[in-house]
Amino acid sequence: MREVAVIGIGITKFGELWNKNLRELFVEAALKAIKDAGVDHIDSMYVGCMTSGLFAQQEHLGALMADYLGQNPIPAVRVESACASGGYAFRLGFFEVASGASDIVLVGGVEKMHTGADATAALAAAADAEYESFIGATFPGLYAMMAVAYKEKYNIPDDVFRRQLAMVAVKNHENGSKNPNAQFRSKITVDTVINSTLVADPLRLFDCSPVTDGAAAVILCPVELAKKYTDTIIKISASGAATSTIQLAQRKDMVWLDVVENAAKAAYKMANVEPKDIDFAEVHDCFTIAEVCVIEALGFFNPGEGIKAAEEGKTALDGEIPVNTSGGLKSKGHPVGATGVAQIVELVEQLRGTAGERQVKNARRGLAQNMGGSGASCTVHILEVV
Ligand code: COA
Repeated sequence: MREVAVIGIGITKFGELWNKNLRELFVEAALKAIKDAGVDHIDSMYVGCMTSGLFAQQEHLGALMADYLGQNPIPAVRVESACASGGYAFRLGFFEVASGASDIVLVGGVEKMHTGADATAALAAAADAEYESFIGATFPGLYAMMAVAYKEKYNIPDDVFRRQLAMVAVKNHENGSKNPNAQFRSKITVDTVINSTLVADPLRLFDCSPVTDGAAAVILCPVELAKKYTDTIIKISASGAATSTIQLAQRKDMVWLDVVENAAKAAYKMANVEPKDIDFAEVHDCFTIAEVCVIEALGFFNPGEGIKAAEEGKTALDGEIPVNTSGGLKSKGHPVGATGVAQIVELVEQLRGTAGERQVKNARRGLAQNMGGSGASCTVHILEVV
């Protein structure tokens, strides 16, 4: 396999963007990435998107986006794996370049969620329709069950658990306040979280990622060719992916994300590194409890210890392993199909040293973890400066 680099990044503002439609968002991010890379053509394209049919009555995004980007007749296809659609699109683009099939590949992700469609119902299509959604389970509800199970498993008093969970949102809003593209740039306190509206007990409004419009894109090429475009070579040193039971009820352990563990193991093996070798990470904090479970399954913290990490400052910008430097899904926003690609954009910003106020010192190797459903699909990518 050839070594592959990321040579261009582009991202739109994330938020409630009523004046931009699905194709405009994608094209904006893609043009920024093409300009940033300095390439004069692309050979092939992948479009990560979860559910444009339900949100915007639009499928067939490969052809649509290639057309509106002025790139016909290149091959282009949409990739879907619920909220991990962007991560899986990136994985396919990586392997297409690594295999030698194409030299310059654009990987984008997009979701237009503010359309008037029922977002909760559209998102619930990523759960098991017959055994979960049919009986009324929603994603806030499923993750709330994980939160209760975590608190019970590790026997944590209610008030301590509530405060420690809130600190994940406080930390991510702090980082998001430093990100000009974030949906919510307000700093918050533990009280803001605890006093916000109850969504699904024990999760409150500020434990949840929001409904977001946005897009992100990156340009990939072989490392050898990358030298023509940039002096800072950022290599994709690993791509790991996995699946697990789509139904939360079928897991052996509701709070141990085996899908993350398996994707991470594959990525660590491919990059020949261990969790301690990672300098910073973007992880899938669709709900505060998700970040806690993910950082344990990635091997950054022991089981039962992830809940304390934010409160102890270990995952802060200047902590031992900064997590969600972009603000994460919680503060930056979660346009579901775009999220996995947006995480790669943040990794590249950090590795280039262009993350401004949220720059992590000595960022040389970053990890991006993107997840679908309540932990049914997952990708883990490791990028490093060479
Ligand atoms: N965090 C912080 N503030 C939020 C927010 C969030 N997640 N979601 C909405 N808000 C704010 C809005 O900006 C608005 O503020 P304003 O009154 O000052 O303008 C207010 O809360 C109400 O917004 P609204 O859009 O009416 O909220 P809602 O009640 O319809 O939706 C949630 C709130 C939590 C239900 C919704 O954001 C949600 O479903 N999130 C989860 C998304 C999800 O499941 N993603 C997939 C994960 S697997």
